[in-house]
Amino acid sequence: MNEMTLLNPVPLRAQFPALQLEVNGRTAVYLDGPGGTQVPQGVIDAMSGYLRHGGSNSGGPFLTSQYTDDITNAARTAMMDLYNARRPDEIVFGQNMTSLNFSLSRALARTWQPGDEIIVTRLDHDANISPWLLAAQDSGVIVRWLDFDPTDCTLRLEHLPDLLNEKTRLLAITYASNAVGSITDIKRAAELAHAAGALVLVDSVHFAPHGLLDVQALNCDFLISSSYKFD
Ligand SMILES: Cc1ncc(COP(=O)(O)O)c(C=O)c1O
Repeated sequence: MNEMTLLNPVPLRAQFPALQLEVNGRTAVYLDGPGGTQVPQGVIDAMSGYLRHGGSNSGGPFLTSQYTDDITNAARTAMMDLYNARRPDEIVFGQNMTSLNFSLSRALARTWQPGDEIIVTRLDHDANISPWLLAAQDSGVIVRWLDFDPTDCTLRLEHLPDLLNEKTRLLAITYASNAVGSITDIKRAAELAHAAGALVLVDSVHFAPHGLLDVQALNCDFLISSSYKFD
């Protein structure tokens, strides 16, 4: 298959049964990207194939459990490629970005002390703000806010050094704004935060369907996407 074939949307569209849907005699158009991804036949076959094969819980010594572990490990390896992660075990699956972020915030908050600080931004989706505000409230941690420039809706990274200090534990920051599409220089933000000893969590939900992800180049500590929004 050459590059032109790969980029031709007509045969690609044909692989997506949901794109054949007709509403009142007209082909449906899906305008709500965040509402959910339409998947190609290969994904549908893989999901139903797993169920047909007699799936089971993970970690058991019996055949169906080992099959589940094999499938999960293969998915981790595929995701490792997508994110350019170093190892498959860096990949964690969850219900969605919000749930993963709530779990992570609870785990990290156990390492915080009253008087520690975290930074969230005014450009982020609520899913990357509320979990941190609640965890900070429960731990007596101070929340600092990074603002954005209203002329181009990019984060004011030049203000980040003023917010960081030796008490900063975490910077929770978006890679791309779901509201306006502006993109953040995560590499620079991570450099600044790491220099202060803070961890960096990146919300890549909006960036992931549009650009190449490379967690090693970004040098972030955590990056969360939403696979049902990969379209
Ligand atoms: C930028 C961004 N982050 C996080 C979320 C939350 O993602 P999820 O629905 O997977 O919890 C959304 C949802 O639209 C989003 O647009």
